[in-house]
Amino acid sequence: MTSASTPLPVPAHIAIIMDGNGRWAKQRGLPRVEGHRRGVEAVRTVMEAARELGVKCVTLYAFSVENWRRPEEEVGGLMGLLETFLARETANLVRDRVRLRAIGRTDELPGAARAALAAAMAATAHFTEQTLVLALNYGARTEALDAARAYAAAVVAGKASLDDAKSWEGFSRYLYTRDLPDPDLVIRTSGEKRISNFLLLQAAYAEFVFTPVLWPDFGKAELIAAIDEFRGRERRFGQITEQLAAAKAEAAAQRPADVIV
Ligand code: IPE
Ligand code: IPE
Ligand code: MG
Repeated sequence: MTSASTPLPVPAHIAIIMDGNGRWAKQRGLPRVEGHRRGVEAVRTVMEAARELGVKCVTLYAFSVENWRRPEEEVGGLMGLLETFLARETANLVRDRVRLRAIGRTDELPGAARAALAAAMAATAHFTEQTLVLALNYGARTEALDAARAYAAAVVAGKASLDDAKSWEGFSRYLYTRDLPDPDLVIRTSGEKRISNFLLLQAAYAEFVFTPVLWPDFGKAELIAAIDEFRGRERRFGQITEQLAAAKAEAAAQRPADVIV
């Protein structure tokens, strides 16, 4: 591992694959849905910690397009929890000035969850300080398909040109994440080391932190540890260390003398 000489700033956008709820419950002889219930508690804790630590945007992988293949009872339990979470959490999001966004094929969610989501998003749409993004019925490949179809439709309608897709800036406008920054840090809990169809395109240059901690046990201390690990990394974006050092020195030289500390 290479580490940068000066620590990186706190990541602006952290995306989390919240994994391990089922194993957390199993270890305690509890039903899986109880693990998910405790997982929701962890969401509250982590959002509060993220706010305190100055993380502007948090994306949580809450339900994948593949998760429909789980037992019907578990899927029903997860949808119920989502609905309750949104209904109960909206007031707190408003109090804390957090904008709620969703990515995924949310139109395929059950009606009650869809309505709760629409209400929560409408109530928080005007906030700019912090964003919570829920990945719901999300899959990166599905997102790529939806983006390709939306782009093709725009071309056919004469609203976009073929050249728009020559640049990433031009094409990424058709992704669910069109108005969101790319994640700087992706965290996966529970010891699994895979991406499971999450933000494949947006995480192109993200740093990854894997922790064995199960999601219901993930709290402020674990978030700080992940951020610290991130801050010690060197992000090179295809360049070499010496170029990064030169760019940093140039940026410092261009800054007015009175702000150099
Ligand atoms: C993550 O926990 C939550 C969802 C996928 C909805 P899991 O339910 O995947 O927990 P494990 O992996 O079975 O322990
Ligand atoms: C990824 O976790 C999806 C979410 C956290 C919502 P999974 O538990 O579904 O992933 P796999 O199946 O182990 O790869
Ligand atoms: Mg899992």
